[in-house]
Amino acid sequence: MKKYFLAIALMVLIGACSSNASDNKSAAPDAAAAPANDLSANPDYQKGVALISKSDCLTCHKTDTKNIGPAYKDVAAKYENTDANVALLASKILKGGTGVWGQIPMTPHAAMSEDDAKALAKYVLLLRK
Ligand code: HEC
Repeated sequence: MKKYFLAIALMVLIGACSSNASDNKSAAPDAAAAPANDLSANPDYQKGVALISKSDCLTCHKTDTKNIGPAYKDVAAKYENTDANVALLASKILKGGTGVWGQIPMTPHAAMSEDDAKALAKYVLLLRK
């Protein structure tokens, strides 16, 4: 009896796998077309882009070049993408601060939620090459 169930379970499993395999076939060309470093499908990236466009970040920051604040890609190069660094940068975004990149201060974003600040920090750290 046990063997019988096992056999059925195995058949269901194989069935599930092979139907997945055929589903994957239709999705494969898209996945293959996106280069490995393409961030546009990353949910953290998408959330960051949306938040940044709603906030004032872009008045002082650009992705690739230094503006009033450091380029995001330079920030990403300085900090590894770890939970500790996400928390550190999120706190800096919320509270503002100075002295890491020069004497110009970053303004605090006291009205922003901690979740949004963390999402922004994650987005910046994703830009690491
Ligand atoms: C008024 C200009 C200004 C605005 C607006 C601004 N920043 Fe900054 N930002 C700066 C400056 C200047 C620094 C460098 C501060 C320093 O040297 O400690 C900085 C630093 C940073 C850093 C690196 C922090 C560190 O300690 O290395 C991050 C990340 C960052 N900003 C993200 C953001 C995000 C996200 C926003 C939007 C919510 C934002 N900034 C809005 C000016 C600004």
